[in-house]
Amino acid sequence: MAKTLIAGNWKMNLSAEQAHQLAQAVDKSAGNYADKVDVALFPGYLSVPAVSQTTKNAAVGVQDLYFTDQGAFTGEVSATQAKEFVSLALVGHSERRQIFGETNEAIARKAAACIRNGMTAIVCVGETEHERDQGETKQVLNDQISTGLTMLTASEMEHITIAYEPVWAIGTGNNAGPEDVAEAIQTIRAAVAEMFGGNAATQVRVLYGGSVKGDTAGSYLDLDGVDGLLVGGASLNDHEFHNIIERASK
Ligand code: PGA
Repeated sequence: MAKTLIAGNWKMNLSAEQAHQLAQAVDKSAGNYADKVDVALFPGYLSVPAVSQTTKNAAVGVQDLYFTDQGAFTGEVSATQAKEFVSLALVGHSERRQIFGETNEAIARKAAACIRNGMTAIVCVGETEHERDQGETKQVLNDQISTGLTMLTASEMEHITIAYEPVWAIGTGNNAGPEDVAEAIQTIRAAVAEMFGGNAATQVRVLYGGSVKGDTAGSYLDLDGVDGLLVGGASLNDHEFHNIIERASK
């Protein structure tokens, strides 16, 4: 059984020095609970080398990458470049989907690029508020999974983690009710079972993300089928993030 994963997505925050300092504090917490909890940090690209050097206990990843390994793609970073420093990547975060127009097809290619380069991808899925109000959550999750994971084989699913992050719960303080999360995670595992079989569906790590804080972490971690948390805002505060890691160790 994989350990609980607590991942911190720092988004476009922190200077290199701030990132270094926060990484030091988090690495200490990660070391204290290393037997029970895996911790991963996702700093901005420019802080990735410094954070990787600072951390001994926490893994480090990039928040995005491009799906081609090299070439004339100004401004992009490939998995081939990222893997020199990190072993993990977020793929298809809802901010990439909503603000930068990333499609499920692009996300499929990014997930494949991670696997091709020996990295682990945390593929993010989740419905918008409008989709939820229209009763489309199941359909949206099915589409995001079936297209997003279409370039992978069952054995490669070992290197995939899925994060369920309802868009309306991200950065809003409006966190999802545990029953809704449990239902969405069942949908996600059923979609994985359909594509890759029951084994892959039970073994794939599935995280919840969206306005998680120290005092709400437990209500998600206690749910069947939730293997960890993807934390945005609260991961920028070392005490709050420590509390989440500590709760995950119980
Ligand atoms: P939040 O972000 O915890 O600030 O809602 C979560 C995420 O975007 O991964």
